[in-house]
Amino acid sequence: MTYQAIKLVKRPTEAITPDLFETTSQALPTLKDDELLVKLTHLSLDPAMRGWMSADENSYIPPVQLGDTMRASGIGFVEQSNNEQFPVGTRVMGLMGLTEYAVSNGSGLNKLPAELPAEAVLSVIALPGITAYHGLFEVLKPESGQTIAITAAAGSVGSLVGQMAKNKGLTVIGIAGSKEKCAWLKDELNFDHALNYKDADFADQLNAAAKDGIDLFFENTGGIAQQPIFEAMNPHGRIAVCGMIAEYNKTEASPGPSWVGIIKRRLTIQGFTMPDHWHRIPEYGQALGAMLSKGELTYRAHVLNGLDQAPDGINLLFRGENKGKLIVAL
Ligand SMILES: NC(=O)c1ccc[n+]([C@@H]2O[C@H](COP(=O)([O-])OP(=O)(O)OC[C@H]3O[C@@H](n4cnc5c(N)ncnc54)[C@H](OP(=O)(O)O)[C@@H]3O)[C@@H](O)[C@H]2O)c1
Repeated sequence: MTYQAIKLVKRPTEAITPDLFETTSQALPTLKDDELLVKLTHLSLDPAMRGWMSADENSYIPPVQLGDTMRASGIGFVEQSNNEQFPVGTRVMGLMGLTEYAVSNGSGLNKLPAELPAEAVLSVIALPGITAYHGLFEVLKPESGQTIAITAAAGSVGSLVGQMAKNKGLTVIGIAGSKEKCAWLKDELNFDHALNYKDADFADQLNAAAKDGIDLFFENTGGIAQQPIFEAMNPHGRIAVCGMIAEYNKTEASPGPSWVGIIKRRLTIQGFTMPDHWHRIPEYGQALGAMLSKGELTYRAHVLNGLDQAPDGINLLFRGENKGKLIVAL
């Protein structure tokens, strides 16, 4: 029996194009001692994949080597096993790649309850949820009554940050790139304000929404929204730099905020990446599962069908065309 996998064969200079990938058909391997074979059911497409394709060795995770299966997280079921920790039928999540099957020794795999819908797992319990949870509670340390601004607020990370902040008693200003996304934030997620950063008067709208300034800023994008938010920050405000999607396809970095402004406002700005915190997945997963079962978190999943949809599908994230967590169902 054979299965398909998508290999990275060329590095991007700007946008992701089809010639960067090759789909290969390969025979299922024979397992060695301690190995297990996972049949993937769903893959997660994430903005970070663009960074993993580049040759940059100075990042938090090494680049994908040319010729290797493209790195991606996913979920699936153990179909064969020589590893007693992961018997046949165990549901697992991990960085198994853009592939229909993956062989593993179990390292880096997390077990999942079999009954949770795949969309709920990948939209909430997996990377988006743990990122939102860590960035909000461990980096920004919110207090009731504060005002938070969130970029890519209708995206998978941002929408969870806003809901958790709202549940904690903050005033939430969500920033997104379309009328439809802003309406979802206001009408379905009950954000206090939802602003379209593409509007010509965005800065005026932001200042009107943040009459008492912004205490916390969960930054997912960079780009044109960043400066007006920075200018509205209150003294001793905190900024969690989670993502910079507006930068990932650029060959030259855009200028950042004024360091003088950081002094004047006595701001704390902290970047974070989740691979530093993988060991907390069980703890965060439990907290997120509890929020989900209490009905405290709403999510929406944008599902593509078939492995062949994955490479070009990543571009939906960069065009703002994903409505919620981008998933490939196999
Ligand atoms: N630090 C970590 O460990 C970690 C973990 C997960 C994710 N992240 C980062 O968090 C951010 C959000 O990730 P996600 O998975 O939740 O994706 P997402 O928000 O579901 O999708 C990406 C969204 O970014 C917005 N966007 C794209 N290009 C933009 C631009 N030039 N300017 C402004 N907005 C733009 C689009 O929304 P609009 O339609 O609203 O423009 C798009 O839908 C990304 O930057 C990602 O790299 C970091």
